[in-house]
Amino acid sequence: MNINTLVCGYGNIGKELVRKANEIGLNVSYIIKSDGVYTIDAGGVLSRVGKYSELDGSFSGVDFSRISVGFIAIPASANGLASRKLAVALTQKRIPLVSCEKSLFAYYPSNLDLIAHTATVGGGSRILPYIKMNMPKGFRVHHNAVIHTVLNATLNFIMSSEKSMEEAVAEAVSLKYAEPSAGGLLTTLNSEMDDTLLKTCIVMYDCFLTEHTVNHNFVLDPNAIKVKHLDETSLAALKAERERYRYIVSFSRKPLGERDVIGGFSFVINGWFVSAGFKRFDNNAYLWSLKYVCGPGNAALIFPEGKYPGIGGPNCTVSPGAGPGPTVRTMIDDLRQLIAEKRIVRY
Ligand SMILES: NC(=O)c1ccc[n+]([C@@H]2O[C@H](COP(=O)([O-])OP(=O)(O)OC[C@H]3O[C@@H](n4cnc5c(N)ncnc54)[C@H](OP(=O)(O)O)[C@@H]3O)[C@@H](O)[C@H]2O)c1
Repeated sequence: MNINTLVCGYGNIGKELVRKANEIGLNVSYIIKSDGVYTIDAGGVLSRVGKYSELDGSFSGVDFSRISVGFIAIPASANGLASRKLAVALTQKRIPLVSCEKSLFAYYPSNLDLIAHTATVGGGSRILPYIKMNMPKGFRVHHNAVIHTVLNATLNFIMSSEKSMEEAVAEAVSLKYAEPSAGGLLTTLNSEMDDTLLKTCIVMYDCFLTEHTVNHNFVLDPNAIKVKHLDETSLAALKAERERYRYIVSFSRKPLGERDVIGGFSFVINGWFVSAGFKRFDNNAYLWSLKYVCGPGNAALIFPEGKYPGIGGPNCTVSPGAGPGPTVRTMIDDLRQLIAEKRIVRY
């Protein structure tokens, strides 16, 4: 692939993007970090060639006419502003984008139509297209429809590990599934719960709120949805019965009347009831099969008419959702799709 790229963010994902680009013959023309614009040589040495301002998203030292595609791999920011500024600056230059950064879409859903975003939810599992492709006709309006999902592979890795929760978090950080967190176990779990809210908003917009089903008066503002974080008491309760619980996000047309939920969030929008939390699965006919989702996995169980497994059965996907390798593979798949759609104009 003789394509010139610009990579925004040179952390876990950005470095893997550059490695993969070298492997498949993409040219990395520029790298944007929080403190400037860089080029990278064959030995991986960065040289600063220009400025980048986080304040207004302006660049210097970039020859945009050479760029065919941009990758956004920077951390989520308050209200998605940091990546929004990058996205606006690059799309104004008519540069197609591939992003794995969630807040860009959770706060600016119109970007879902403009920017390739498969890796934003479940890095490598492609769970967004899976859900869309497997929702039967009429599912969005069916009054009994239910879908249960594991959207956060890092939380699933921690919950399904046989090690202590502290050890599982340390392993999730060392495998680059989770951000390092100074606060340890509690802070990591709570920040992954916040992250799941952004993923949930993307699933809601991308899979459920279509042009035809949406009531245009709705507002889905992640800032207005309160995540009930864990504290020492609820963490102790969760630890005591960890093998019975997973962090599950459910979408349904009616309230599910759930019990045994620890932490999380819930909201109602456009006729959909959305609830997330550490949910007990071993005593629930809908959820029990999620015990087979182990490690950094994502899953979706789709019950078109709210029926229990065995009667029509659920559709289910289980696949690795976190980690730089799977995430970057999905971003490159998005790039290939852009090429197939002839949206990459400069080679
Ligand atoms: N890890 C996974 O499995 C996974 C899966 C799916 C999606 N993601 C998403 O991938 C993104 C990147 O994650 P990561 O683990 O690679 O992060 P990371 O290791 O913290 O690296 C972040 C990089 O972004 C740069 N940066 C930060 N703010 C910036 C800004 N405003 N403008 C330009 N560059 C900026 C940083 O620059 P400096 O080097 O100057 O600090 C750093 O190079 C996140 O949004 C994450 O949610 C991760």
